[in-house]
Amino acid sequence: MWGGRFAGGPAAVMERINASIDFDRRLYAQDIAGSKAHCAMLVRQGIIGQQDGDAILAGLDQIEREIAEGRFAFSTALEDIHMNIEARLKEIAGEAAGRLHTARSRNDQVATDFKLWVRDAVDGLDRDLRDLLAALLDQAERHAATVMPGMTHLQPAQPVTFGHHLMAYVEMLSRDRGRLADCRKRLNECPLGAAALAGTSFQIDRAMTSRTLGFDRPAANSLDAVSDRDFACEFLSAGAILAVHLSRLAEEIVLWCSDGFRFIGLSDAFTTGSSIMPQKRNPDAAELIRAKAGRVIGAFNALLIVLKGLPLTYGKDMQEDKEPTFEAADSLSLCVVAMTGMLRDMTVNEEAMRRATEAGFITATDLADWLVRALGLPFREAHHVTGALVRLAETKGCGLAELTLADMRTVEPRLTEDVYDVLGVDRSVASRTSFGGTAPDNVRQAVAAARERLR
Ligand code: ARG
Repeated sequence: MWGGRFAGGPAAVMERINASIDFDRRLYAQDIAGSKAHCAMLVRQGIIGQQDGDAILAGLDQIEREIAEGRFAFSTALEDIHMNIEARLKEIAGEAAGRLHTARSRNDQVATDFKLWVRDAVDGLDRDLRDLLAALLDQAERHAATVMPGMTHLQPAQPVTFGHHLMAYVEMLSRDRGRLADCRKRLNECPLGAAALAGTSFQIDRAMTSRTLGFDRPAANSLDAVSDRDFACEFLSAGAILAVHLSRLAEEIVLWCSDGFRFIGLSDAFTTGSSIMPQKRNPDAAELIRAKAGRVIGAFNALLIVLKGLPLTYGKDMQEDKEPTFEAADSLSLCVVAMTGMLRDMTVNEEAMRRATEAGFITATDLADWLVRALGLPFREAHHVTGALVRLAETKGCGLAELTLADMRTVEPRLTEDVYDVLGVDRSVASRTSFGGTAPDNVRQAVAAARERLR
């Protein structure tokens, strides 16, 4: 392709380090779409003839079929997807094929292909996330009133509903969708026509190719257009945050299905057994989702490190942008889909969750609030009195509700029978009606609102 200036061929190891075809073949559909748009524009602008244009387009169609059907012979000697396709086009369309690369460079070509690929990945991931959100919403609705211990420091803190807990993830994943949408919006400017780096002397129509490829507008600066990889960084950044969210949920699933909790059960479809311990059912899918966050964060890190300190414009370093991005996109989609299946199949042990709320004096805050409301104590003092009641219950080895009124009055003589009303967990969660609180009715409203947003 560029042999005119060269007398010898590359060393074998040069070919190996230089070639990207083993991974950038994944860009073939985007590469062909970009070439078709470029070709149609060249014809319309009278830069190449109609006949040549037709021969190129027919050849590209044929190549697309050959690749899709696994009949295309990729060659490492031809370096990358762009040159593999162009060389095959030459075999099919002859002379005409050589005209396709007019007013174009592999630099604007690869930037365009890769943007189109990342845009498709964003759209695919968003579809996967919608399914995951739907699964979370179904479970949240079912368990709008299922009580469980809400934790801080992994210690029982206050009773919450399981539905409310799941809805926290709905919020997190909805922000992830927002970040992806934001990335897509900024990504959507077309590099094609920036050529090698400086633009071109041909009278091209960049608005036309941009429109054809579904971009909002052509990228405004040719130097930036060929060296910008912000779109991949933003995708990986949003992806890394998403991966962290998935990992946190995965960790909770691992905890919840462990012997210490037994809050949930996972299906056969999303667990594995042990080859030696017949009783085992391991949450492998959750553990792998938890771990794969490492890959995605690593990919983001890798790309930033490749780009840092690169002078404008294109450098071959930038060929190293693809593998981490492909790998992260694959992992993210896999994790989201696996999480969706795991949640859909998950059974909830309401009994165990309720039993766990009986430990840890979990309604102590309700008791303190009652002292404020019924006796007019300042909250700080109510907190102190409640602490003393907890200590009393602890020495007697019982829960707060099991203390007799006489016992309680040794701490605070003005206490009345009414205090027992606030010591139950159902009353506790039902009373948390402040906006964003855990009351079952709040959860149902939040589910309905999230469903509305998802439609
Ligand atoms: N395979 C290259 C990449 O992925 C394509 C662009 C090559 N451009 C160049 N001037 N060598 O970055």
